[in-house]
Amino acid sequence: MTPLVGASTKMNLTSTQLERYLTRLRSATAHLHGVDLFVLPSFPAIWIARQRLAGSNVSWGAQDVHPEDAGAYTGDVSAPMLTDLGCTYVECGHSERRRDHGETDQVVAFKVAQTLLHGMTPILCVGEPTREAERDSVAFVTAQVRAALAAVDPDLIARVVVAYEPVWAIGVGSVAADPLRVERVHAAIHRLLLDLGGGAGRGRVIYGGSVEPSTARSLLERPGVDGLFVGRSALDPDNLAAIANTAAEICTSRSLATAG
Ligand code: PGA
Repeated sequence: MTPLVGASTKMNLTSTQLERYLTRLRSATAHLHGVDLFVLPSFPAIWIARQRLAGSNVSWGAQDVHPEDAGAYTGDVSAPMLTDLGCTYVECGHSERRRDHGETDQVVAFKVAQTLLHGMTPILCVGEPTREAERDSVAFVTAQVRAALAAVDPDLIARVVVAYEPVWAIGVGSVAADPLRVERVHAAIHRLLLDLGGGAGRGRVIYGGSVEPSTARSLLERPGVDGLFVGRSALDPDNLAAIANTAAEICTSRSLATAG
């Protein structure tokens, strides 16, 4: 499976700053094969991504979407607006949106369904709020996945990317979760995705939360860690390129091992 590496710039980078950022990212990743890449800028800067990334090996998308196609929803952004800008990924249910905008599992489920309906890939973010025993984390996270995918046609489940992002591992002052713990939570999510999708296909499960170039390898080497979702470290495009490079290297060495 091709690993997936992406970044959300969160509420950082103006359009002018993103232009410089993407110019650098594009050249730093131009040689990479064997990794799928994406960037999720803030809404006002997505047009820059369309301009700068068209024809590159980096896809782009949005950090949120409204469940309706259009209407009287002041300040919101619809899926047709995103597809019109060439977006192919939409982040759904990030913990900062659940916390700051009161997004419930049900709202997140609507956003996931809307994203799929418009042919884009949802990146469904789940994660336990505090560091708990692993068994409790697994129960919490799988309940979130189940709720968010309740309305999704089983045939489409394999198109959903789940981002396991323990809330306690996100943001300034945090460190990434232990790779072994990540492996075990991912295994539980993979099992659930197979169940929900009737066993057809295998959705990708990526990890996010204080990922840095120095921690990427130990996370990506774990079975069932299909990629990484990067926040503040990716605000330096060279860091995101380095993480993508590590993912590509691991993918190549796995293919060689399988071929041999
Ligand atoms: P962080 O953010 O890398 O800054 O911890 C990760 C995320 O929120 O996806």
